Amino acid sequence: MTDIRTVGVIGAGQMGAGIAQVAAQAGYEVILSDIDLPRAQKGRDSIIRQLGRAVEKGKLAQADADAAIARITPVGEIAPLAACQLVIEAATEREEIKRAIFGNVGALLAPDAILASNTSSIPITRLAQAAPDASRFVGVHFFNPVPVMALVEVIRGLATSAETVTAVEAFAASLGKQVVHAFDAPGFVVNRILLPMLNEAMFALGEGVGSVTDIDKGVMLGLNHPMGPLTLADFVGLDTCLEICKVLQDTTGDPKYRPAPLLVKYVEAGWLGRKTGKGFYDYSGAEPVPTR
Ligand code: 3HC
Repeated sequence: MTDIRTVGVIGAGQMGAGIAQVAAQAGYEVILSDIDLPRAQKGRDSIIRQLGRAVEKGKLAQADADAAIARITPVGEIAPLAACQLVIEAATEREEIKRAIFGNVGALLAPDAILASNTSSIPITRLAQAAPDASRFVGVHFFNPVPVMALVEVIRGLATSAETVTAVEAFAASLGKQVVHAFDAPGFVVNRILLPMLNEAMFALGEGVGSVTDIDKGVMLGLNHPMGPLTLADFVGLDTCLEICKVLQDTTGDPKYRPAPLLVKYVEAGWLGRKTGKGFYDYSGAEPVPTR
């Protein structure tokens, strides 16, 4: 089985930085790559802040935080990824971007290295076609915030080998995560269920069934969810929500997955949720304020 010591993470946004953080804390050397060095460094800076908070709360020793940070190397090019036994792509949820990455990075990797995608919904079997060896290509789907959420979905493409699945299962376990296996179907397990709920909340808002706060409060208190659906959509990123809805709609042909008009409008406005400071809420003040 592939002996994983150095892990590459492509994309230093909220998911990529989270994956890099948990891998470094588990003792792996991590190469955190993005399209330029400042972006990769920004991802590492966010990890430094997260670990700093954990130290302040007395949940992590300063020496362990320092050791984890020292294991993360930010890079602005792909060549250093050649040293990795496992590379996890956590780039923007757009198929053409991911395919280009798998072609370029796949060509650098050792013959037994594994290429994994953290895609939220794009079929693994289809993405594997862009990689040099589909048997060493697999879906590993983390959840946001990665350091907190206990789950990793492992998605086996048609050609993914049993050895590849075993290696990523062992990797997920070494991060303290639990694994569920998902069939390579649009949205896999969790997003297949989550996105229709978030999208329905947006339809309900657009139709005036409830206000932003009433919809969120209703689901939090009525269903015991930690976040309301509109808060969660802002947290996931409205662009990501829209891309997942489109994949579900396009790959199944089922109109029940059509994106809510409000979701499309907010993305067109550049209101992508927390990451841009505005979505269903405005995050510029001390407390989020509904934008509608
Ligand atoms: N990164 C790291 N740690 C974080 C964090 C972050 N962004 N946000 C919160 N935490 C930690 C806090 O430090 C705290 O840790 P502690 O208990 O050790 O002190 C703990 O999480 C709880 O945080 P808070 O007390 O500040 O806040 P809450 O109790 O409200 O919890 C939450 C925050 C964990 C984010 C909770 O609201 C939650 O579970 N929300 C739902 C998240 C969810 O559903 N995620 C899945 C999204 S779908 C997805 O990712 C798939 C993708 O493909 C779309």
